[in-house]
Order: sequence, then structure tokens, then C-alpha cells
Amino acid sequence: MASKFLPSRLPLPLNSPRFHRLPSTNKTMIPIASFSSSSPSASSVDNSVRKQEEEEEELQEKVAQALTYHHQTKHGFANYARGPRGLDWANQPNPFRRYISAPLLPLLHFPTDRPIVAVTDDAPLYSSLFHSLPPPKPISHSTISQLFFDSLALSAWKTTGFSTWSLRVNPSSGNLHPTEAYLIAPPIQSISDSPFVAHYAPKEHSLELRATIPSGFFPNFFPDNSFLIGISSIFWREAWKYGERAFRYCNHDVGHAIGAIAMAAATLGWDVKLLDGFGYKDLEQLMGLQFFPDFKIPSRPIKGKFPEIEFEHPDCLILVFPNGSNPFDVNYKELSSVVNEFTNLEWKGKSNSLSKEHICWDIIYRTAEAVKKPLTIQKGEFLVDQFKSSGICSENSYKGFTIREVVRKRRSAVDMDGVTVMDRQTFYQILLHCLPSGKGEKHRRQSTLPFRALSWDAEVHAAIFVHRVIGLPKGLYFLVRNEDHLEELKMATRSEFKWEKPEGCPDDLPLYELASSDCRELAKHLSCHQDIASDGCFSLGMMAHFEPTLSEKGAWMYPRLFWETGVLGQVLYLEAHAVGISATGIGCFFDDPVHELLGFRGSKFQSLYHFTVGGPVLDKRIMSLPAYPGPSIDA
Ligand SMILES: Cc1cc2nc3c(=O)[nH]c(=O)nc-3n(C[C@H](O)[C@H](O)[C@H](O)COP(=O)(O)O)c2cc1C
Repeated sequence: MASKFLPSRLPLPLNSPRFHRLPSTNKTMIPIASFSSSSPSASSVDNSVRKQEEEEEELQEKVAQALTYHHQTKHGFANYARGPRGLDWANQPNPFRRYISAPLLPLLHFPTDRPIVAVTDDAPLYSSLFHSLPPPKPISHSTISQLFFDSLALSAWKTTGFSTWSLRVNPSSGNLHPTEAYLIAPPIQSISDSPFVAHYAPKEHSLELRATIPSGFFPNFFPDNSFLIGISSIFWREAWKYGERAFRYCNHDVGHAIGAIAMAAATLGWDVKLLDGFGYKDLEQLMGLQFFPDFKIPSRPIKGKFPEIEFEHPDCLILVFPNGSNPFDVNYKELSSVVNEFTNLEWKGKSNSLSKEHICWDIIYRTAEAVKKPLTIQKGEFLVDQFKSSGICSENSYKGFTIREVVRKRRSAVDMDGVTVMDRQTFYQILLHCLPSGKGEKHRRQSTLPFRALSWDAEVHAAIFVHRVIGLPKGLYFLVRNEDHLEELKMATRSEFKWEKPEGCPDDLPLYELASSDCRELAKHLSCHQDIASDGCFSLGMMAHFEPTLSEKGAWMYPRLFWETGVLGQVLYLEAHAVGISATGIGCFFDDPVHELLGFRGSKFQSLYHFTVGGPVLDKRIMSLPAYPGPSIDA
């Protein structure tokens, strides 16, 4: 199969920016939908029909912009997406945002190594969390510290002698870390006597207090013992290296961060859910990000001094609440009007500068503008599904690590050894933990850990290249994560595919064998010729139900599809480490050749993210240093 779908000669990347002229636009806010209640006259009916048509047209233009971005940032065998020609090291963005002069509140540190970490209620086993969550802990200085320590903190420093850099619990494409986080919480002893908004500073493992907020905010709107985490992205950090494709990677990273937060919260008996009724403007005001100046998006990529592109784009807001809380609703309309007043709070700290010079990749900002979500205020929108246990077929595959051991030891494999094999049961077990719904259920609703953080039905599937799984023929397989899509997938893929359940596959695992073949070379070439895609036990491409989702729900689903792939990627990283091997996210792949291999035409399904799982090769030239206290450099 491999050679059949590949061009005989694979050209080298050209990576040469072609600068088109595109219309110039201002960075503006999306208006929140307004509702009229007066009785209509003929002309007001005409007006409202026209207004509706205009709104519909605007929505379609936004979807068109998301699609244009997506197609323009595809890598092809002959042409990589536009990016810088080489790296401008003098302007490498500082990976640590600070709010200068905001009070710095240190968080607590925790032991990471055995035998200090015993398996107790405080340190549950990784695999146990997929069955049930422990009883909820109260919010305290200690539990909040633990949440960040096990999700977004530094995990190590690395040095070769010539260069030194930090790594984090959450992964990031190119280790560039565009993702920032905010804690919005009620008063917490030893942190703040008033409810507050704070920025998380991972290098210091501390909170930067940005504002205190009205005392009624939490009791009026949220269940007891709950708080919020806001996530934002600095596109420039990722664009510095990856140019136009960077917007995709920032959103993968948001998904990884959501997954990391959901897992760390689960350890504390806390459930998490996106507060996705909020609009972009609400998020911006809640996190205090409205102070970044607006800028005029240029009509083409431009190099120069653009400090304004170091702004933070608010992505999402996560509600963290005690597992098992009684059902509750969120009054987005009232919340939004309260949050509107946050602009008048006293915001502390001035954002630091990250680079002296920049390249403004205009399409990123134009697309970020088009995919901003408006406020949606339907009642009953906030649904928390009951916690569902994931499927289990091989508990013994897990090596008995605690959750902290798994999340803090997670590392991307730079190379895979090409020899490690996985047994079939372990493979099936890993895939069972990648499914959105509980065991025995039809897969669609996202109700298992950590997918339950997401507020939509699963839209992402996985096409899997099995390379080294004992008891399974090498070949192409497909994991259907939303079984409502099964027939559509069968129709959309090559007619010669088998769609047969493989031998020994658990009944509740919707895994299908499509074709038997040695796909190692194929997988490697499709993932930008990277050996990691062929030298592991398996690699995969995450296939999103793409254009229908954007057309039906809106352009704002575009980043969300990437978030879903990031959460799935986070599970793959953790599963690999929990069974004693490793994994690596793969953002670099040739989009349309992957679609061609599967038989996808048009944009109904699109590959958004690749991944590899296997035995890592450790680079002995790189020395590891503890995360805290780190060397005193900005790396
Ligand atoms: C969205 C995403 C895309 C990535 N793409 C690649 C890739 O194409 N090739 C690769 O070798 N590593 C890739 N990585 C791995 C990152 O380089 C790695 O996460 C980063 O260097 C930090 O190291 P860590 O994961 O060990 O913390 C990717 C990671 C993420 C999160």
C-alpha cells in the first residue's frame, strides 16, 4: 500500500513565503446578538429579515475565513506552509510572561520521587482515576498549589552545557509554550482574603495577583467550593518558529493544557467543564486582557517592531467544581453583565515584553478574529454529565505509577527505538482510555476523564498505523470516537477498506481494521519524513468531522476541534508513560496526502494532529536538572 499512494520522488521542503496582498482589517470585537421584543411593522419585518440575512452572511464569511486559513496552512510534499526562512534567535520570544509589579504569591512544592510519594488518597494511582474520582478536597493554598504543580508547572530543566531550557508538565509544539493561565477564585487563606484574578507564573510556581473582584461573584453564580481557570494564547511565541501554521499549534496546546488541568483536578476530586456559553469579550474581561492595545492587521506578513502582537488571546474558561456537586445552571446573561464591569477594577501589573522584533503573520490574526465565539445565553446550556468510567480490558498493563509520577515524568520522545513492541491487550487498553463515553455506551457524549471537560459531542477520530503490536497484523486501523459518524466515515473512505473488528478487540472498543500492510515508511513520510512516526509501536492521525461541524455550529468550533485533538493527545502521552513507554505529538504532517490515503475528498473530514507511541531513545548528552529551584536564566 505504501508506495501506491506516495509520489515516486519526495521533494524537499521549499518553505518560501509567498506574500499575497490581502485586504487590511481592524482587530474588532464581535457584537453580542441583540434581541428585540416590540411588535413588528412591515418595514421593521423587512429590516429584521435583512439583518438576519446580513448576520447569516457574516457567519458564513467567518467559516470561509477559517477554511481559508486551514487550507492555506497545509503542508504538502512540495510546499510547506509559509513560515520564517530560518530562526531569528536574537528575537526568540521569552517563554515566561510576567506582570511587572503585580504582587507575587508563592505556591507550595511537592515531592515527586518515590519512596516519598506513597500511594495514598493524596496520590492516587493513574489508572484508578479512569474508574472514579476520589472525594473532593477543599480549596486551599495547598490544593491550588498541587493543581498547578501537576498541570502547568515546570517539570525539569535540561542542559547540554551550551544551552539550557526548561520543560513543563504540559507539552507544547517546539517547547515554545504560547499558553498562559489565570486563576479566578474565591478568597483562599494564605493567598488572598478577597476573591481575585491571578496570573500563573510557572518559572516561579507562583501567582501574580492582578485584581480583586466583587465578593458576590462566586456565591451568586457558582456552586460552593468552585473556581475558574482561564486560558489564553500568545500566538507570537509559536509564530516565531512556525509562521502561519502556528495558530493550529497554539490550539493543540490549549487542548493539552485542558487535558492536563482536568487530570490534576481529578486527583483532588474536582470535576472540570468549559464554560463555553461565554463569549470572547467576557473571557477577555475576566482575565484582565482587555488592556492589550488593538492593532491594525496588515494585509501581508510584515517584519518589524510590533509589540502589540505579544497580546494574549483569551481562549477558554474552565469551571473547577467538586465532583458529585448537585446539578446547577450557569446564568451566562447575568454573569456577562457583571463581568463587563471588571474593566473598572484596579488591574495590577504591566505585561513584560517578549521580543524586540517580530514577524506579523497576518492570516493568524485575521483567523483568530473570525473564530471568536460570541456570548450564547440559552438556558440549560451548562450540562454536566455524570462521571462515566472508561472501559477496561487490561488493568495489568499499567505499571502502578501514581498520577503525579505519570504527569510530571511525561516527556516527548525525540527518537523512537524501532524495536519496542506492545502487546495487543495494552494497545486495546490505551484506546479504551481514548474514548469519550462510558463503558458499554454508544460513543458520542464526552463524559469520561478528561474529555468530559469539553462541552460538545466527540468530533475527532483516529486513523491508526499499527507497526509493532504483538498479535495484530501491521496495517491501517480506525478508531471511531463518535459512533454516529460510522456510516458517514465508511462512505467517505476508500471503498476497498475492510471495516472489520480486529481479533480479540473488546466489544466496547469501536476499532476497525481497514487494510493490512507494513505502513512504517508511509507513516514516516506522511508525518514530514519524521522517523518517530515509523519507529514506534503505533502512530496515528486525528481525523476531525470538519466542515459540517463549522457550518452547523459556527467558525468558533475551528479552534475547539484542535482543543479536542490536544486533549486526546494528552491522554496518549499519559497512557504511554503509564504503561512504561513514551509518545510524541506530531504537528508536522502533509495534510492532503493523508486525506488521499484514506480516500477523504473535500473537507468533510480533515486530519488535524498526528501522534506516535513507542519505546523512546534517551539522549545521554542532555543532562536533567530539577524544576525548582532552576538555573537563573530566561529559558
Ligand atoms: C502540538 C504539538 C506538536 C508537536 N509536533 C512535533 C513534531 O512534529 N515533531 C516532534 O519531534 N515533536 C513534536 N512535538 C513535541 C514537542 O516538541 C515537545 O512537546 C516539546 O519539545 C516539549 O517537550 P516535552 O513534551 O518533553 O515537554 C509536538 C508537541 C505538540 C504539543
